Amino acid sequence: MYRKIHKISQLEYLDIENSTVEGCLSPTHTAGVVNLFFFHGSLFANRELNGIKESAQKTRIILIKMDVTNLEEIEVAKQIVEETVGDRGLNLLINNAGAAKMVTFPNLTPENLEFHYKINTEGPVLVTQMMLPCLEKAASLHSGGMSVSRAAILNMTSLAGSIKNAGFEFTQDLHVPAYKISKAALNMAMRVIGALVKDKGILVVMMCPGWVKTDMGGREMAQLEPEESIAAMLKTLSTLDESSHACYMDRLGNPYPF
Ligand SMILES: NC(=O)c1ccc[n+]([C@@H]2O[C@H](COP(=O)([O-])OP(=O)(O)OC[C@H]3O[C@@H](n4cnc5c(N)ncnc54)[C@H](OP(=O)(O)O)[C@@H]3O)[C@@H](O)[C@H]2O)c1
Repeated sequence: MYRKIHKISQLEYLDIENSTVEGCLSPTHTAGVVNLFFFHGSLFANRELNGIKESAQKTRIILIKMDVTNLEEIEVAKQIVEETVGDRGLNLLINNAGAAKMVTFPNLTPENLEFHYKINTEGPVLVTQMMLPCLEKAASLHSGGMSVSRAAILNMTSLAGSIKNAGFEFTQDLHVPAYKISKAALNMAMRVIGALVKDKGILVVMMCPGWVKTDMGGREMAQLEPEESIAAMLKTLSTLDESSHACYMDRLGNPYPF
């Protein structure tokens, strides 16, 4: 499905076969910068646009400043997306923004809990809600099944959000309980949204990128280079259809228990 991937400075830039859809991903973060909107041309929304302004200059990427905890900035981003995509709609939203601050139980504070909830749960929900009309537009242009080429929402979750496996599969992440709670809540939120948009033909998935060498994953301990994680996720993404709708999975598409 993906015809080619060009590396442009920090950004990876890909063309998708049979369309002029383009996107960009930054190897410095797991799946792009913050939120990534794909369409005919690309939109990148990031809190501060740090480190990507220069890289984006020689591309057709449009950068939008957006803090996912700031409703006004999400609204402005929505207007820019609407004006840019027009009647073609938006065919892929990647909710990538995420944060983790280690405060362990029994030292949790309301601030720490709220910090994680606002960025990891509330942010993606509000961004998705705001972008829904644009996604619906793209979905309405195609009939048939669900696919990432039609209209999709990729949520960057974590296997740390699994309620079933909490404290069993991997125990180090127990030291960031608020992060785990917020990702479990994200999974629920997107499961609900998935059920509500199913009839519109918009594919919703919750995918874990793996343990990746980023600021969050840690450059020393983590197992995957960002490029490896991104390549795996893109490959998986291109194979997904309605059988994966509202599912929780790893980067290879293997289902994971909620
Ligand atoms: N790395 C891993 O091992 C791993 C594992 C499982 C899941 N994940 C998930 O993968 C996603 C990306 O993680 P990462 O490893 O690339 O983390 P990262 O290196 O810490 O990058 C996080 C990104 O989120 C942005 N962000 C944070 N708060 C934001 C806000 N309020 N509004 C807008 N953007 C905000 C940051 O922007 P600034 O640069 O402006 O701060 C940064 O671009 C996250 O959802 C994370 O939970 C990562």
